[in-house]
Amino acid sequence: MNRRDWLKLAVIFGGTAAVASRASFGSSVGTLDVGTNAELKALRDVAASRGLIFGAAIPKKNLLGDPLFSRLVSRQCGILVPELELKWEALRPAPDQFDFSGGDWLYQYAQTNRMLFRGHTLVWEAALPAWFASAVNARNGKSILLDHISTVVRHYAGKMHSWDVVNEAFGFEDGRPDGLKSTPWLRFIGPEYIEDAFHAAHEADPAAALFYNENWLEPETDSSEKKRRAVLALLTRLKAKGVPIHGLGIQSHIYAEGNVTGPNYWRFLQEVADLGLTIIISELDVRDKNLPASTEVRDRVVAKQYYEYLSFVLKCTAVKAVLTWGLSDRYTWIARSQPRSDGAPVRPLPYDPNLVPTAARWAVQRALEEAQAR
Ligand code: XIL
Repeated sequence: MNRRDWLKLAVIFGGTAAVASRASFGSSVGTLDVGTNAELKALRDVAASRGLIFGAAIPKKNLLGDPLFSRLVSRQCGILVPELELKWEALRPAPDQFDFSGGDWLYQYAQTNRMLFRGHTLVWEAALPAWFASAVNARNGKSILLDHISTVVRHYAGKMHSWDVVNEAFGFEDGRPDGLKSTPWLRFIGPEYIEDAFHAAHEADPAAALFYNENWLEPETDSSEKKRRAVLALLTRLKAKGVPIHGLGIQSHIYAEGNVTGPNYWRFLQEVADLGLTIIISELDVRDKNLPASTEVRDRVVAKQYYEYLSFVLKCTAVKAVLTWGLSDRYTWIARSQPRSDGAPVRPLPYDPNLVPTAARWAVQRALEEAQAR
């Protein structure tokens, strides 16, 4: 980081370059002590020094085809999630077939680079194979789901740090009082598909930590509060029934300008922690689609959001890991799902398209450094 960038960062955090006091939760964000090149530490090491894990979701093709990117990922990440390879679409080319080649390649990559490996995701309504709609129904749905979970979890038994067992089960648009989304799984099996899935996963790999993973839990809005209440009710019920669930993944695809550090979200984090569950920030990225065109301004606001959000959630000691969804703006699903209307390339991740650390990269390091050890 050169002097110009250093000054820029000092401005981001509202202070002057000469004063470098650490910001803290509860106060307005002050100056961030951004340091020098020599202070740039591998995020996986900074996290580990606090008893935390830092990592990312990456697809095989980006590692295989891009040695510089691959070096960045292995240097920075202590945990790896296959971004695509363990979804049904990738694993199930045909009803009677499993293709583990992508997942196995990534597991080997993680092993070689001393990274933990995290599975995503066993039950979801999206990323289903083309054959699914005509082949799966209320008669065979349950056995197909449980067979999928048993086969896949057994394949990686003893190798997984954790599994996202069920992903995004809630959505109030379907009008159910419990807030469950009308997915094929709900329609074919009923609400108990969730606990069935956790039991099957636990049976297949008793050592894997099993997670429920969800989106839109972060904003301080009525709709997110409704979702938090529904998710907490589910987690409470699963724990009360002795269902083997160990954690909550909070996706954290957040907007740069959104309020994601409010009291209702804080209360939710505490309530989840009080259930004895681990929390993982599972898919962090910061959307810049509503920010001005200037990359300098965007980077500043995105970095501020990274810093404020991570400082906030890491105050909760049940939060044990931070994973970004991708690592560099060179490869990010935000480019497709949340493009800017001016067509400018999006910058939601800690490294820019040239693999240069952005202000957000420093924000992540600082938030991890400042986290209380756990
Ligand atoms: C996304 C991938 O990043 C994209 O490449 C793919 O086209 C769609 O899925 N929540 C999740 C992830 O749980 O699985 C999604 O991943 C992003 C949103």
